[in-house]
Amino acid sequence: MHRLRRLRVSETMRDMVRETRIDKSDLVYPMFVIEGENIRNPIDSMPGIYQYSIDRLDEELDRVKEAGVHAVLLFGIPAHKDEVGSEAYNDEGVTQRAIRHMKKRMPELLVIADVCLCEYTSHGHCGLVCGGEILNDETLPLLAKMSVSLAKAGADVIAPSDMMDGRVAAIREALDENGFCNTMIMAYSAKFASGFYGPFREAAHSAPSFGDRKTYQMDPANRKEAIRECLSDIEEGTDVIMVKPALSYLDVLREVADRTDYPLAAYNVSGEYSMVKAAAANGWIDEKKIVMEIMTGIKRAGAKIIITYHALDVAKWLSE
Ligand code: PBG
Repeated sequence: MHRLRRLRVSETMRDMVRETRIDKSDLVYPMFVIEGENIRNPIDSMPGIYQYSIDRLDEELDRVKEAGVHAVLLFGIPAHKDEVGSEAYNDEGVTQRAIRHMKKRMPELLVIADVCLCEYTSHGHCGLVCGGEILNDETLPLLAKMSVSLAKAGADVIAPSDMMDGRVAAIREALDENGFCNTMIMAYSAKFASGFYGPFREAAHSAPSFGDRKTYQMDPANRKEAIRECLSDIEEGTDVIMVKPALSYLDVLREVADRTDYPLAAYNVSGEYSMVKAAAANGWIDEKKIVMEIMTGIKRAGAKIIITYHALDVAKWLSE
């Protein structure tokens, strides 16, 4: 008689046949840096996550180091927003200064810089707006300019999250022309127009002032189109592809993993984090057990890299 339970008789046995493992090197921790002084603002909907001003960033960097996480994804929140997102490509902008500070303080830390205009525009959309329409081609030079500015500040990886068509090619060309041929691109390739970004928009002050993002972010119903998005970013020269959010899109992750040979990242987004934190705070779930199961699920679905607000906790649990 077949007895699959033989594989489960002891922890040692289970450990030996385990197919999926989480490693600290898989984790990317998102960080929010805000213009100003002496700021450590809690994000109400994301317990444990804060906005820091640059002068207090070291507190957070120390926590990252102590946990043993090697990569962060940085979001900047400027004091001044305008129609064209000028602060996004200002070499002295808050994000650029934060990157310089981080690379000086922790040179070995891999700094991934999010590229998108929504935190920097007064209308909160990810591209230029004209007559209520989000413009594509006119936005590309600004994204390219922002990428070069962030690379100049010391970013190791440029992560465009805007979902404009053709942005990977435009950014790659601009980086190469400016001597940043080793700066990597991690494209948010299949990014869905999701309700799970709600808490992030509070954290990054990036909610659109009118309409929604459905004309540029993907329809949650589309799996085949997600493959096309990934393949087209690969063709344009991305180094890493991403599916976002993670949990309602594990099938997309699996299919992209099967259909491509590129390193695949999954973004375990703000709403996914908030749901876990809220249930845990009520004592309804065992946070550690559930978070580790979520991480395992994302990795088993085919992701190599996991961007998650749980990163520091996961790293600590892995060391216990
Ligand atoms: C910016 C951006 C968003 C997220 C990452 N980059 C928000 C959005 O597209 O509205 C979401 C991250 C999260 O929810 O954790 N475009």
